[in-house]
Amino acid sequence: MSLFAARMRDVKPSATFRYDAAAKKPGVINLTIGRPGFDTPVVIKEAAKRALDEGKVHYTPSKGIPELREAIAAKLERENNIKGIDADRIVVSGGGKQILYCILMALAGNGDVVAIPNPSWVSYEAQIRLAGAEVAWLKLNPEAGFIPDDEFLTALESSKAKLLILNSPANPTGAVFPERVIKAILEICEDNGIYVISDEVYEKLIYEGRHYSPASEYENVITVNAFSKTYSMTGWRLGYCACADRAVIDKIEIVHQQSLSCCTSFAQYGALASFTKDAEDAMARMIEELRARRDYVMERLNELDNIVCEKPGGAFYVFPYIRDVDDYELADRLLSRGVAVIPGSAFGTQGRGCIRISYGGADLNMLSQAFDRMAECM
Ligand SMILES: Cc1ncc(COP(=O)(O)O)c(C=O)c1O
Repeated sequence: MSLFAARMRDVKPSATFRYDAAAKKPGVINLTIGRPGFDTPVVIKEAAKRALDEGKVHYTPSKGIPELREAIAAKLERENNIKGIDADRIVVSGGGKQILYCILMALAGNGDVVAIPNPSWVSYEAQIRLAGAEVAWLKLNPEAGFIPDDEFLTALESSKAKLLILNSPANPTGAVFPERVIKAILEICEDNGIYVISDEVYEKLIYEGRHYSPASEYENVITVNAFSKTYSMTGWRLGYCACADRAVIDKIEIVHQQSLSCCTSFAQYGALASFTKDAEDAMARMIEELRARRDYVMERLNELDNIVCEKPGGAFYVFPYIRDVDDYELADRLLSRGVAVIPGSAFGTQGRGCIRISYGGADLNMLSQAFDRMAECM
């Protein structure tokens, strides 16, 4: 008899954490990190410190402090045009990852199918399997800039999925899906009774195009977001989900309650200050810096041979496809030359031959050195 639960059989450790650890050797330029390398805006840190000094150190309501949920509901209406969400239709979580886990535990189980793009962020597959459900991979192609095409829509239609996870701007590709594409996907979901989990954690990190939240027009959507990437708060572990259907929120809350109780009290008070002008200004400065990095990375990639890479409109990743290359072998070769990236296969079979380059944690100087080294060995 195995000591380990059967559900652990098909679940691997996070590839991004593994390569990030390998990249910590002295002299290695780390382009694996899935976070912006900026500090959290001062106004947010000050608010958290104040909350600590005021003794806000106890359990909070499981869904999160009401002030924060009210601020999130107002933000969803103001910025995302999502109506019908009040504070009771929001659950504040320990990061975007934890709320995705709660959602999947609440909605997916044995015999269910959850569709995800191929390639996708590594945790989708792992979490779906932990929930006991099956994964239906929907192919995206480098030539189309990893934007869903007709093949994707046909695969979705015949997938027998009960849930679809959408992610725009996307990890690992940086692709921003146009509104018309998201609508075409949502129409299929409506017709086929598929509920949509819209992971919008990169919504503000957009350099071209416009973010579109499907919950603004469709009912069968759970919107997921987090403070992590937008305000460089990955260590604070704060995210949330919102859904107009109270019954869905109630089930998600049960998983959240039984696993975490509630999020860190003073972190929630800090996050409340993210809805201020100071925090927005700090975020805008970060986005301009990230845009300059993205442009530089594209310039240097275009100098290399045998590469297919549409300019990604958002997040802080580029996901070039390199013809005739084994991505694991290339990632190892690059690491031996002092540049750490993540092999594309870690994100799904359509990532074969690709590497994920994150420019979130590397400034222009580091990127310049990294591309000098890459040019030598590619
Ligand atoms: C697509 C996507 N969704 C969700 C998350 C989770 O973010 P958080 O740090 O808030 O858990 C990440 C983090 O890398 C991500 O890339």
